[in-house]
Amino acid sequence: MPLDTFLPELYAETPSLAGSNRVAVAGPWITEAEVAAVTDAVTSGWYGNATSHIVAFEEAFAQHTQRRFALSTPSCTAALHLLLAGLGIGKGDEVIVPELTWIATASPITYVGATPVFSDVDSVDWCLSADTLEACITPNTKAAIVVDLYGNMPNYHQLQAVADKHGIVLIEDAAQSIGAMYNDKPAGAYGQAAVFSFHGAKTLTTGEGGMLVLDDEDLYNRCVILRDHGRIPGEPRLFWQNDVGFKYKLSNIQAALGLAQLQRLPSLVSRKRALFNLYQQHLGHVEGLTWSNEGDKVCHSHWMSTVFLDAALGWEKIPLMETLRDRNIDVRPVFYPLSQLPAFSGYATQMQQAKARNTTAYHLSPYGINLPSALCLEDKQIIDASEALAGLLLK
Ligand SMILES: Cc1ncc(COP(=O)(O)O)c(C=O)c1O
Repeated sequence: MPLDTFLPELYAETPSLAGSNRVAVAGPWITEAEVAAVTDAVTSGWYGNATSHIVAFEEAFAQHTQRRFALSTPSCTAALHLLLAGLGIGKGDEVIVPELTWIATASPITYVGATPVFSDVDSVDWCLSADTLEACITPNTKAAIVVDLYGNMPNYHQLQAVADKHGIVLIEDAAQSIGAMYNDKPAGAYGQAAVFSFHGAKTLTTGEGGMLVLDDEDLYNRCVILRDHGRIPGEPRLFWQNDVGFKYKLSNIQAALGLAQLQRLPSLVSRKRALFNLYQQHLGHVEGLTWSNEGDKVCHSHWMSTVFLDAALGWEKIPLMETLRDRNIDVRPVFYPLSQLPAFSGYATQMQQAKARNTTAYHLSPYGINLPSALCLEDKQIIDASEALAGLLLK
């Protein structure tokens, strides 16, 4: 894959990356390039230049994802909400999501009054598959949101074929997968539209932030209007709205940071992949570990280095997380199945059906952990964390 190699000299020069005792689960890699871009936005990105960094970031992002349009937003959650509203999805409609994802994939479905339907995931790539998707489609299904879990990507050709067969909209939730590729196309290029997160824990960050990318001009125009309180661009009366919309804009300062990070994306992703390879090397002798599977056509961006433990090892995710945390090693549990969360108790039928159907997600979830994957970590910290984990598992 055409990724730059990691540059150790740049890493060493960056004061904000100086080691800390806590082995962080996630965090960014900020260099002087980002500092310079933000300084420029803070000092001169006002008045006539108030949107210059936003325009440049959106243009570069559309180009990166091979899309016609990109719309920056304050978060990925906002981008999904905006998209569902723009698509006209609402009461009586069902939208399919995978069981194993952050709640934000599903919450916006409820914001527009539609019903989330929780699908099982594939046992190999841990994402929606053509089979698990098709099993959830009903006459009320309007869309499915596919999640590129932890930086992996599923078989989008098969998923799109199912969506086309049933006439539903496919949406790519690429919140975790910037820099990944499937079949020579980048994360964000699949489905009718895709969304990204630039939260501080993500590979590319703007502190908080998000992006919606798409090709359909009418949908784009609707989302532009909804993003700005229902105001039509160029409206001569300025304060005249035909619709009630949202205030979902990214700031110029955040966009400057985002563009500088995007320009360094190959280095960011190379480092994430290097962290994952280090874990595999230093935990390779431990039996009963299942690592993220990078399919033939996939370049996994390893936002998180994730591993599932065989039940026979005797560790579930929460006790393991607490034990490692006592040693200053920060790990996170793999997501709980969404249909297990009290948050969705208002969708009792969906929850019951999902619990009975989604055996893979329920089988995987108790034993999955995200290992420290912060971009500031040094090799030695990964090796020490691997040894600490191996020590616990081999006891
Ligand atoms: C899969 C997924 N979707 C959506 C989101 C929401 O992103 P944000 O926090 O930018 O709203 C996240 C955030 O982690 C995520 O992991």
